[in-house]
Amino acid sequence: MDAREAALDKALAEYLSWKGDPVATLSAALESDPEFVLGYTTIAALNCLGGVKGDAAPVREALAAAGKVTHLTARERLHLAGAKGWAEGDIAGAAQAWEQVLAADPTDLLALRLAHDTHFFLGAGEKLRDVPLSVLPGYAGNDSRRGFVLGMAAFGLEETGDYAAAEQAGREAVALNPGDAWAVHAVAHVLEMEGRAEEGIAWLRALEAHWTPAAMLAVHNWWHAGLFLIELGELDAALAVYDSHIIAVDPAMILDLVDAAALLWRLELLGMDVGDRWAQLAPKWLVHAEDHVLAFNDLHIAMTLAGAGDDTQADALEASIENYVAGHNGTNAGVSAALGLPVIRALRAFRKGDFARVIVLLQPIYRRLAPVGGSNAQRDLIIQTLGIAAYKAGDSALARDVATDRLKLKIGSPRAWAPFGV
Ligand SMILES: [Fe+2]
Repeated sequence: MDAREAALDKALAEYLSWKGDPVATLSAALESDPEFVLGYTTIAALNCLGGVKGDAAPVREALAAAGKVTHLTARERLHLAGAKGWAEGDIAGAAQAWEQVLAADPTDLLALRLAHDTHFFLGAGEKLRDVPLSVLPGYAGNDSRRGFVLGMAAFGLEETGDYAAAEQAGREAVALNPGDAWAVHAVAHVLEMEGRAEEGIAWLRALEAHWTPAAMLAVHNWWHAGLFLIELGELDAALAVYDSHIIAVDPAMILDLVDAAALLWRLELLGMDVGDRWAQLAPKWLVHAEDHVLAFNDLHIAMTLAGAGDDTQADALEASIENYVAGHNGTNAGVSAALGLPVIRALRAFRKGDFARVIVLLQPIYRRLAPVGGSNAQRDLIIQTLGIAAYKAGDSALARDVATDRLKLKIGSPRAWAPFGV
């Protein structure tokens, strides 16, 4: 194995296990090998996936350096197209580039994980399922990487509603490698959607020693633990999870900021007073308020500012998104216009008690929210907000419709309808 392969292997192992620092690993390799194209493209892609703007220095410089290298292989050209697509706002094109890598080489696990994460941000459930399943035959039963592919397939199967197959694939992946935090997480999703909250808590607790060191995903799995507690009606315990494991979130970790906002919003939806936690969280989000990398991030910023009662910053955020949408054509600009802004306005209206406006904004879009990104469980927060608004506005027909839609996804959850009073 040459030095490039060794560096890529190490970075990929870190990326797949949500541990360590793959960008640092690749940066170190580039110091002695400035023509290491996949080092540059992967640094650019990982930064973009982590929420860094496409025109920010770490992305721009990596792409510029890759562009200076001559004689790229076909694989390198496609990885570069993927990273460039993300950086330039063509997120759907980025996913296609990595799918093209896989068409040529189904065992390019780096391309698979990059495509999978991109499909997650696109809310592309069928791709989350089909792309890992399509390459699975390339990983024999004794291939140590097979579990990671199964873990990704498990998540995609869950997102498309095949909970039994998802659970089977996820449990198989975890049996192969209990440190596969993404597979642990995929099974947690199944347990969440099926309302198996006690099992969910037991599942996460039994594997806690394995997933808590996976620093990039640990807060998210704690968020799932919080959801199980909410499902059981143990709101104080869910808030205790927030205070123990989420409140200290690093402002650079956007997925963690999303989880922090989402857990507080869920608790408030159920009538809990979360005190000054919104005000503590808001400054961490504000550093990202003009980035507009993903509508999904922006709506969680708006949620936080609404929770904190900061109308000035919330107005500024909305105006900034409107400007961004007017001046850009990429994937995220379209999603921000069609879904992001209405959701943001609805969240703000909900916090002010204007439930009729929430209905006007969310009723037309609540059944087609997937492109806003994230998982069904994450987007459920928006659905719940509409259901509760409908209930509070006295629109029992809509409350019942929303509850029925929730039950289609959360088929075994005895509480799926409860907050809506139907
Ligand atoms: Fe999740």
